[in-house]
Amino acid sequence: MKLFLDSVRLPEIETVMARGFVAGVTTNPTFLRAEAPVRPLAHLERIVALVRPLELPLSVQVMTTDPGRMVRQAERLRDELEYDGLVVKVPCGWDELAVIAELHRRGIEVNCTACMTAMQVMMAAAAGARYVTLFYGKMSDVGIDAAAVVDETGASLRRSGSRCELVVASIRKAYDVDEVMRHGADVATVPYRFLPMLSQHPKTAEAVSAFSESFMPV
Ligand code: E4P
Repeated sequence: MKLFLDSVRLPEIETVMARGFVAGVTTNPTFLRAEAPVRPLAHLERIVALVRPLELPLSVQVMTTDPGRMVRQAERLRDELEYDGLVVKVPCGWDELAVIAELHRRGIEVNCTACMTAMQVMMAAAAGARYVTLFYGKMSDVGIDAAAVVDETGASLRRSGSRCELVVASIRKAYDVDEVMRHGADVATVPYRFLPMLSQHPKTAEAVSAFSESFMPV
């Protein structure tokens, strides 16, 4: 399973990229508004400058519910950001499926986001989405067995032969990352605060402490 960073904060992106493990970055309008309430495009350009050297996929969501505007915004993002790794996030829905199909025809990669069911994912993948995103925490909030949805979705995508990758977002605790990995997600997109703890373990610290007693000049 790959790990994406779910953040628009430049220091977080830089810190994570320096550690080499991150395979992509995802953003959303809520994060962007909090970090860059004015000139969001300029902020996205700064993110692009960070991810460009490693050519990481960068998901940026459209900021309208109007399907025609979604297509125009996606084109504007492509033209302004001039980044081959750009993936335009489009929420799942009936009219939005037409947006996904149109962007696919225009050669713009799509991450269909805010999916809560395997069927939404399958429809978005068939419409041409390159990534589909299930909202793990938001499913759990309303009593849905989110792990079972990840299982079912991953299995359905694999059976269909789709090249669409299953991203799991709305990660609320470090343990969610382990759980979605076990259940066959292709990608977990993870808030920065969980990543250091996922790389550490008390028994690792204990082992290193024991080794350190044997350190000698080399
Ligand atoms: C994807 O865009 C984010 O992971 C998501 O919006 C955050 O989800 P949460 O607010 O349910 O934690």
